[in-house]
Amino acid sequence: MAEPLPFAVLISGRGSNMLALAQAVMEGSIAGRIVTVISDRADAAGLDAARRLGIPAEVVASAPGQDRAAHGRALTARIEACGARLVVLAGFMRILDGEFVRHWQGRLLNIHPSLLPAWRGLHTHRRVLEAGERRHGCTVHFVTEELDAGPAVIQGRLEVLPGDDETTLSARVQRLEHIIYPRAVGWFAAGRLTWRDGAAWLDGRPLAQPVIEEA
Ligand code: GRF
Repeated sequence: MAEPLPFAVLISGRGSNMLALAQAVMEGSIAGRIVTVISDRADAAGLDAARRLGIPAEVVASAPGQDRAAHGRALTARIEACGARLVVLAGFMRILDGEFVRHWQGRLLNIHPSLLPAWRGLHTHRRVLEAGERRHGCTVHFVTEELDAGPAVIQGRLEVLPGDDETTLSARVQRLEHIIYPRAVGWFAAGRLTWRDGAAWLDGRPLAQPVIEEA
């Protein structure tokens, strides 16, 4: 059997997606292991949550006066020192510089709380509600230099319910995130999901559309 894929998870906050990934590793549905959890913020609750599971967790904060590229190089150095071959962004709230993204191209995944290409950027739940959208969800995508614009792999879709507010809507989207992110990372670890010529490929075919998971 192939060696489990070593991967790094980058967080800035609670880390519920990181925990869903850790759970999937423990259950054996991801043929991988989390070699490090890295936060850019020392107060990220996910750091202690990872340590409680025995996963190494560390802070790589940007030093005063350090530019984005230098911080990106510091992150790459730590990730490579841990032997990771995939980088999973899970609520990592810093925009990564082009050098970092190019270095990890094809080995860098993100989850975004909207049905990309709709609603790139921040505060997606609020904007979806304000616009009166009926459909919402989350997308796992390969990261490219353009923010939230890389090839989509899988989307969790749900209906916006009458009476939904940001809290109820984000909770339902997060439940979907915890299903689709482990699935995508599991595909990558199994060699089923790859990056080729700027596109996401699954099982030997380019994905013209993301795989859809309906709530
Ligand atoms: C998620 O909703 C994700 O879509 C967004 O940031 C949030 C992180 O949540 N990128 P958590 O830290 O994984 O709980």
